[in-house]
Amino acid sequence: MTNPVTAFDPKAFRRALGNFATGITVITARTPGGEMSGVTANSFNSVSLDPPLILWSIDKRSGSCRIFEAATHFAVNVLAADQIDLSNHFARPSDDKFAGIAHGAGLGGAPVLPDCSAVFQCEKYETVDGGDHWILIGKVVSFDDIGRSPLLYHQGAYSVALPHARFADNAEGQAPALRALEGRLSTNLYYLMTQAVRAYQQDYQPLQLATGLRTGEARMLMVLEQDRQLSLEALLDEINLPRSEVEAAAEILQRKLLVACRDGRYQITAKGIEQAARLWQIAAAEQQKMFSAIGDDELAAFRKVLTLLAAN
Ligand SMILES: Cc1cc2nc3c(=O)[nH]c(=O)nc-3n(C[C@H](O)[C@H](O)[C@H](O)COP(=O)(O)O)c2cc1C
Repeated sequence: MTNPVTAFDPKAFRRALGNFATGITVITARTPGGEMSGVTANSFNSVSLDPPLILWSIDKRSGSCRIFEAATHFAVNVLAADQIDLSNHFARPSDDKFAGIAHGAGLGGAPVLPDCSAVFQCEKYETVDGGDHWILIGKVVSFDDIGRSPLLYHQGAYSVALPHARFADNAEGQAPALRALEGRLSTNLYYLMTQAVRAYQQDYQPLQLATGLRTGEARMLMVLEQDRQLSLEALLDEINLPRSEVEAAAEILQRKLLVACRDGRYQITAKGIEQAARLWQIAAAEQQKMFSAIGDDELAAFRKVLTLLAAN
């Protein structure tokens, strides 16, 4: 849908921007007087190779602005996939963001976090007025490429990087992942589970997305079809996605007349029930296809193991 720039609403604008998946950084600084701060930021981007410049932007209302203003340097800590807690921690205002947080001291005293994917230590190069944000450009003076799998952010939700399904095409016509299963990893249950989910998703997700619904929207319809009337809190429990994503899905489904909200409770419409039935059909057909060669007893054992693991 086209939103003319004269009349767009900020929520819709943010959601449209959320289509651009990013990594997540914690950007840190220390003033000459010893005050430190760190801000979770996904506005980080590269600018120039020669000279080596990067940028990010900070909300002018941020309590950390004055620290970045007074500091000579800042450090960009690119978070790894297992650092969600750090991302959440540095997204909250606090008088002492580093209390209980392991860190070293980088250039200009900027705190450096251990076990990230990469760290870029920068001296401040230029600050540009960018509407309600300051755009901070840094000149990279030192960097560490630790190479850990990065934490991603997409549509208000944390995510991880999985190779695209199409990477499987190679000269021998066999997926690299399948060949790897012949090696030592083939006995590692975690590896097997991730490969199995990937194989399943490769087939299933395009079919689900072809209905025109995103994952959160499809999940909400499928939940509402079974429970019919739920509050936002109950939906959050069931759908297991971030609040912002569930709220956005609820808004879109209402716009499409698939869901209605009365007295704070969400209810599927007749049109929504038809759509949910199609989604369940796709899910059932995929399950049938993927598990058709597996016997009932084996399937029952598999379901039991998955349920046990999920409850952990
Ligand atoms: C994933 C994510 C990305 C964020 N990106 C930015 C950003 O690029 N710039 C910004 O100013 N705030 C961003 N924020 C919000 C800040 O992290 C948050 O407002 C700040 O840490 C609050 O503390 P403060 O008082 O030090 O500003 C982001 C938050 C999250 C969860």
